[in-house]
Amino acid sequence: MKKGLFITFEGPDGSGKTTVSTEVCRRLEAEGYPVRYTREPGGSEIAEQIRKVILDPENTAMDARTEALLYAASRRQHLVEKVLPALNEGITVISDRFVDSSLAYQGKGRGIGIDEVYAINQFAIEGHMPEKTIFLQVDPEIGLERIHRNRTFLDRLDQESIDFHERVLQGYQEVIERYADRMIIIDANREVEEVIQDAYLAVKGLLDA
Ligand code: TMP
Repeated sequence: MKKGLFITFEGPDGSGKTTVSTEVCRRLEAEGYPVRYTREPGGSEIAEQIRKVILDPENTAMDARTEALLYAASRRQHLVEKVLPALNEGITVISDRFVDSSLAYQGKGRGIGIDEVYAINQFAIEGHMPEKTIFLQVDPEIGLERIHRNRTFLDRLDQESIDFHERVLQGYQEVIERYADRMIIIDANREVEEVIQDAYLAVKGLLDA
């Protein structure tokens, strides 16, 4: 059986990534495509428990490398339990975040270094990188304004300083350049409906190829 495609959605907080990726998945499923939505950090029971520890605003003492290792651990569990079995059944998996998030947030945002974070993630994913990544590009002010407007609860990472979020954006910029062949970049400063439409056409194009 032909394996499913592994597609990820990436972008900074407030890029609309979750709204866009769930809606793209819903539309494709409605059209009969074999697709499955999942998200990181989490996406399986054990991985969701790790997510709670990482994002708990009470955990202010968490060390940056501990954080990076927990994301990698959560990713591993999610990959083994959810992503790989679906791909093996021929289902396309659309994951809301994956390794690129760790490269940007922990590698650059926390200052651990993109290569070091990549190395621990290779241990976790054993080479299973996505075939394509839809990157939602948004200006930091617009992204942060959306977070504060739309959310009643801010997790530990949402509460980080604007400097942190700017470093994350620089990290994503490096990741986009490093993996240019894998990236499909979409301007997410626009109305969400326009972003959904572009992302939907991009993923549909991949499935029809
Ligand atoms: P979410 O808002 O997409 O649910 O993700 C929760 C937070 O976790 C978000 O601020 C991004 C952050 N994150 C990392 O810092 N590293 C990672 O590897 C992942 C997957 C998420």
